[in-house]
Amino acid sequence: VEPLRVGLAGLGTVGIAVLRLLERRRADLEARCGRPIVVSAVSARSRGKDRGVDLSDVTWYDDPADLAHDNSIDVFVEVIGGEDGPARRAVEAAIARGLPVVTANKALLARHGNALARAAEAHDTGIGIGFEAAVAGGIPIVRTLREALPGNAISRVYGILNGTCNYILTRMEREGLDFATCLAEAQRLGYAEADPTFDIEGYDTAHKLALLTGLAFGTEVDADAILIEGISAITPEDIAAADELGYRIKLLGVASRAGDGIEQRVHPTMVPKSSAIARIDGVLNAVAVDSDALGEIVLVGPGAGGEATASSVIADLMDVATGRHIPTFGRPASAMQPYSAARIA
Ligand code: HSE
Repeated sequence: VEPLRVGLAGLGTVGIAVLRLLERRRADLEARCGRPIVVSAVSARSRGKDRGVDLSDVTWYDDPADLAHDNSIDVFVEVIGGEDGPARRAVEAAIARGLPVVTANKALLARHGNALARAAEAHDTGIGIGFEAAVAGGIPIVRTLREALPGNAISRVYGILNGTCNYILTRMEREGLDFATCLAEAQRLGYAEADPTFDIEGYDTAHKLALLTGLAFGTEVDADAILIEGISAITPEDIAAADELGYRIKLLGVASRAGDGIEQRVHPTMVPKSSAIARIDGVLNAVAVDSDALGEIVLVGPGAGGEATASSVIADLMDVATGRHIPTFGRPASAMQPYSAARIA
């Protein structure tokens, strides 16, 4: 049997966790898809660095675009991050060659997802971009929206989509710690983005929300239409005042139908302590979907961290290994409706 040969771009927290999980789960993964899944080539800076994994048999590239041109790989996995720069060039190169792409990169897809999806699906294989890892870490919300709910008209999707912010807010509330201490801890634990401004100012939540909106409503992805406010101005006093009134402060991303369009927003929100969303603590994320046939469903789980995110990467790799052809956003990119949000200022 031919193995699935993976080109893995990025050996940070998530990349290393992908290698570890593929090793740990090797027998069952092979049993499920009938072929071994082997990382045969990688790209990363600082080749000599000890990452605690055996990379002696893999081909190394310094530049992910060179990895994307490696003729021996069957799928390109991008866990570098960043909306432009090396990640984008490499993903575009892989797609141009017709290689299936799996990515954890929400910033890239929030900005360029419409064009990338169209380019990926233009190939004969018609295979979409796998991005389960890009939204809410380990929670399988992309699959849920992409494949499980076609019998539903969705009216709203919302939730806690940034583990770093929820971790910070939880520790500020529970332990009375200040913002900076909690942020430093989130960085140490590998939850925060390389530039934590993306987390705390709400951009990371907005990127994920833009992708959820596309999946839920079949509209083109438009992160620019989102009203965004982060949590960096939240003080321990705000949290205490909310507490006295019976509320917790959570950073929520919300996309809902509004008139003929979709309204998308990200901001700190007072949620009643009795609500399910108020009880989501620490690095957990929660995504709620309101729809006509089902009512509300809520998925809760780890929204950041190496292994949780790698778990989602592996789910997408299984789709590639078994040849499942699912469009990026659950319907062909060419069938996505123009985005017609009522902008709120
Ligand atoms: N920085 C992100 C978070 C990681 O804290 O949720 C997952 O996208």
